[in-house]
Amino acid sequence: MVTNLMTQRWALLTFILRSSLFFPFFSSSTEPAILNSTVVLLFTMTITLLQLVILLVCVTWSSTATKLFIGANWKCSIESVEDVDRQVEGLNEMWSSLDQAEKDAIELCINPPFVYLDRVRAKLHKEISVGSQNALDARGHSPDRRNTGATTMAMIRSVGSEWVLLGHSDRRNNLGEKDKLIATKVRAALDEGLGVTLTIGELKWQRNMGLALRTLRKQLGVAAAAVPEGKWESVVVAYEPVWAVGEGATPCSPEEAQRVNAALRKFIHDKVGPEAAKACRFTYTGSVNEINAAAYAALADVDGFVVGRAGLDPVKLKSIIQTLASS
Ligand code: PGA
Repeated sequence: MVTNLMTQRWALLTFILRSSLFFPFFSSSTEPAILNSTVVLLFTMTITLLQLVILLVCVTWSSTATKLFIGANWKCSIESVEDVDRQVEGLNEMWSSLDQAEKDAIELCINPPFVYLDRVRAKLHKEISVGSQNALDARGHSPDRRNTGATTMAMIRSVGSEWVLLGHSDRRNNLGEKDKLIATKVRAALDEGLGVTLTIGELKWQRNMGLALRTLRKQLGVAAAAVPEGKWESVVVAYEPVWAVGEGATPCSPEEAQRVNAALRKFIHDKVGPEAAKACRFTYTGSVNEINAAAYAALADVDGFVVGRAGLDPVKLKSIIQTLASS
């Protein structure tokens, strides 16, 4: 969906540019007979100026086109600054080896633990975004400054992070985070100018009882109510079937991922509006790797991935980026 939008934009831009570049040649070759040279010169200068304005508009427009999204969630996998530095070095080399078209198509966001955010941001290639894996506390509904040990949105932004990952199943299921608290965090992040990767997902028993979509709509609905109007471009929804995440898990079939993501997009369309449904990116997460990425990337309502294990290996990550970029 996002790719289609970008392709359409590029087609239109190319058309405008081509037509406007030929315009002065038509005018100067057909009109000198009837216009004196000063008029021709003025005319040509005006057209040239117009071309420059069009070019500027085109460049700005294309650079704001929504990209496909890949989030790499490190979780607690890297636990020393030496390993962090090695990982960042590998990511930088990987990013530099991509084609420009691949880089342009993808927004890559690395999510290290809090303590490494500053270090990663300082050393990582500037074209790669950095996001926190969480913010604020695991309990309570108020993002209160008096909570010792908490990390606020402002702190995250102050070290140059642009994203925050919220609602991951580890936090929902192991640390007891509830929809309402997650919604509070979503609002706080967006108010601070951060983008939000909002993870939602059903447990195995919920799926077995036919409650998958109901669970997902509830989780998404509570968070969606906290998203201010016009902020949906800063939201990435990550559908994470909890039973499909981690070592030994069975990935969700591409057909099911498409069915769910289409239903989620429709939910936002109906509840919030068509603009929100178009601006929001709907991604898939759960055992995505360099082998199965192509099957998900081809889906109409999968605008990217959040990866865990595969994101720790720059070679695998590169392959996933290339697959998605060419989808
Ligand atoms: P995985 O993790 O890609 O290793 O399954 C995904 C996640 O935790 O979101």
